[in-house]
Order: sequence, then structure tokens, then C-alpha cells
Amino acid sequence: MEKVTAPVITGKKGKEKISMLTAYDFVTAGIVDDAAVDIALVGDSLGQIILGYSTTVPVTIEEMIHHAKAVVRAAKHALVVVDMPFLSYQVSVEEAKRNAGRMVKESGAEAVKLEGGVRMKKTIKAIVDMDVPVMGHIGLTPQSVYRMGGYKVQGKGPEARKLIEDAKAVEEAGAFSVVLECVPRQLAKEITELLSIPTIGIGAGPDCDGQVLVFHDVMGLSGSFRPKFVKASADLRKSMTDAIKTYIDEVKEGVFPDDEHSFH
Ligand code: KIV
Repeated sequence: MEKVTAPVITGKKGKEKISMLTAYDFVTAGIVDDAAVDIALVGDSLGQIILGYSTTVPVTIEEMIHHAKAVVRAAKHALVVVDMPFLSYQVSVEEAKRNAGRMVKESGAEAVKLEGGVRMKKTIKAIVDMDVPVMGHIGLTPQSVYRMGGYKVQGKGPEARKLIEDAKAVEEAGAFSVVLECVPRQLAKEITELLSIPTIGIGAGPDCDGQVLVFHDVMGLSGSFRPKFVKASADLRKSMTDAIKTYIDEVKEGVFPDDEHSFH
């Protein structure tokens, strides 16, 4: 199977839907890659999913690089995109360039993703000019959770115009694709038709050029809270809990280890 690149992703627009899933470690990245997903995203959602923070805000560059390295080692086919965490690109364009460079150089990921539209236009352009492919991310941008006052659908009513401007800015800055998170379905359709780069939706309806979800949500590993836009394809939390209970019972009852699993 051929390695997916950023230009390959851009070229899929209008031809083939793009699949993207998060991956944070070697095992899950290997599973995602074997299944031939187009993009493995080392999302800063790892702050919540893997590290147990309540938001993505505390995630550091070092944590992102650490996890991205493991994903890169497993990804033979998928394009690996790594999220730039909060404070790694907001302070100045110079800092953003250095940190984006560090993230691809030290982790081996092939592109970065960062949040923001019009206000990030210069930053995206500067990183793209360094030959680092950038994926944009607009709509609900989780690093702005405190300003937004929670995780809410963005671009409703008069806000729609602003989101369209954000989408155009990301494209004009040279991004190879853009994530639309928690955006009304009709607005996501309009933006998708307007842009020449692919849109990748999460909570943005069926008319985007691609779809992204968090691996643990799709696998039913995330616990009881499930956002409206998540469709779990498995119930691994239950399967894993059952398997662990079986193991505990067998150990307690002296059924395992047995002769078959012993050395002679
Ligand atoms: O961090 C993340 O997982 C993301 C996706 C959900 C788009 O940014």
C-alpha cells in the first residue's frame, strides 16, 4: 500500500472521501494503519483521552512529540499529522515556525495541525513557507474552551459569516486541508463547496470531504459520555472489562496458569 502524503489528501477532494482517526500509541496506530485509514492524527485530545486532563490546554510539545514518535513508528501507510498544542503557536509567528519545525523534525510526523482561522493566517502561511504541510482546524477549537464557555456548536446564525471567512483564510494561507468541528450541517456543506482544499468534519454532517473521530470513541472505550456526533463501531470497554474479569476469576480460582502455560 502506498504512503499517503499531504498532496495526496488534497487531491482526493471531489474524488474520494477521506478517513481520519486519532492515534496516540504504537499499538492503536498499527491497528488504524493496517485498516488503511488515510490519516492518523496525533491529536492533542490525548490530553483528555490518554493523560486524563480535563481539557487539551495543559498538553505540552514534549508530550505531543513523545506520542507522535510512537505513531510514526507504526504508520506505514497513513499520513501522520500531529497537533500543535496550546501555547506552541499563539505567541508569535517565529515561535510557531520553530515549534512546527521541531514537531516534524523530532517526531517524524509529516504535517502539523493548528486551531484558528483569520487570526492564524500569517502563522499558517509562515509554516507552509518552511515546507511543513499544515492542516487547519476551525469551528469548535478545543484549545479556546475557556473563551467559548464550553464545547458548543459554532457558526450558528450571524456567526456563520465569520466561519466562512476563517475557512477562506486557512485556504489562502496554504493549508492542505481543514477540520470543521461542531458546525451546522448546512454551513459545513457551504464551506466544503466554497473551498478547493478538502474539509474534514467532526460533528459537521455528511457533506464534508472527509471525517475524523477519536479512536477511543469509535471503539467504545471512552466511558459513558458520548457526544451526539460520535458513532461507536464497537463496545471494547465492555469486551475488555469482561476479559479482565475472566482473567481475575481464573487467577483467583487457580485455573490459570495451568499445565499448558507452564515450562517443563
Ligand atoms: O485533538 C483531536 O483529537 C482533534 C480532532 C478531534 C479533530 O483535534
